[in-house]
Amino acid sequence: MTGAGSGIGRATVARLAAEGAAVAAVDVRPEAAEEAAAAIGGEGTATALAGDVGDEASMAGAVAAAVSAMGGLDTVVACAGITFAAATDRLDLDAWETMLRVNLTGVFLTCQQVGRVMLAQGSGRIVTIASMSGAHIVNVPQQQVAYNASKGGLVAMTKSLAYEWASRGVRVNALSPGYVDTPLLGSKHDLHEQWKSVTPLRRFAEPAEVAAAAAWLLSDEAAFCCGTEMLMDGGYTLA
Ligand code: NAI
Repeated sequence: MTGAGSGIGRATVARLAAEGAAVAAVDVRPEAAEEAAAAIGGEGTATALAGDVGDEASMAGAVAAAVSAMGGLDTVVACAGITFAAATDRLDLDAWETMLRVNLTGVFLTCQQVGRVMLAQGSGRIVTIASMSGAHIVNVPQQQVAYNASKGGLVAMTKSLAYEWASRGVRVNALSPGYVDTPLLGSKHDLHEQWKSVTPLRRFAEPAEVAAAAAWLLSDEAAFCCGTEMLMDGGYTLA
């Protein structure tokens, strides 16, 4: 589980542990990963690990530590992500590259490294956390070309991996939430009521609802999902 220290990732650690899983909680903020691991209940276990998804050596270390702590890797949720808004004509290249490094390259490195373990054992399940902003909407009024490009690329990457690895026992699917009540949205409080007002369900998703969908995509009940992008947006895209 990457991005385990907050929001959707933290809720997913809790959900999977409650189902009895042994979870590796990876985050670039080790103290947040520790908190998420300490907060679990149920039958499962959680091991906190430091890891920057955008850094190949850091992720290699985290994946090796996870395999060693848990004796293998059956499922992964690639959730780590960042966001910011900036007008394209004022967006500097460093900011663009930072966004892609975390949200797209970070998921690529996560999938590549856990994929090597899963392909060797002939089984595995991966869920990538994309967004309705990837293939479905342009956010308004904020301008977030880099975020949306990263998520669009992530959906395409997920489908390509799903095809490439399906016959080798590894299922890959994407989950694309609409607005979720997490710290990621925290800097945009002034827009919250506007976003809710154009969402048919008139609210944000709870992180636990997204975690439940991720758990389902990882489960045997989703065995025929291959390269599926599950859109859960409270009806936002219907309007
Ligand atoms: P959040 O900000 O609450 O949590 C993100 C976590 O990722 C943090 O703990 C952070 O430390 C970690 N992280 C950031 N960069 C990292 C890196 N380089 N390596 C490892 N960990 C890193 O955000 P939230 O809302 O839980 O978002 C999780 C995912 O869901 C993101 O990919 C986000 O784009 C996606 N998402 C969120 C939506 C929302 O409305 N909150 C909507 C749609 C998608």
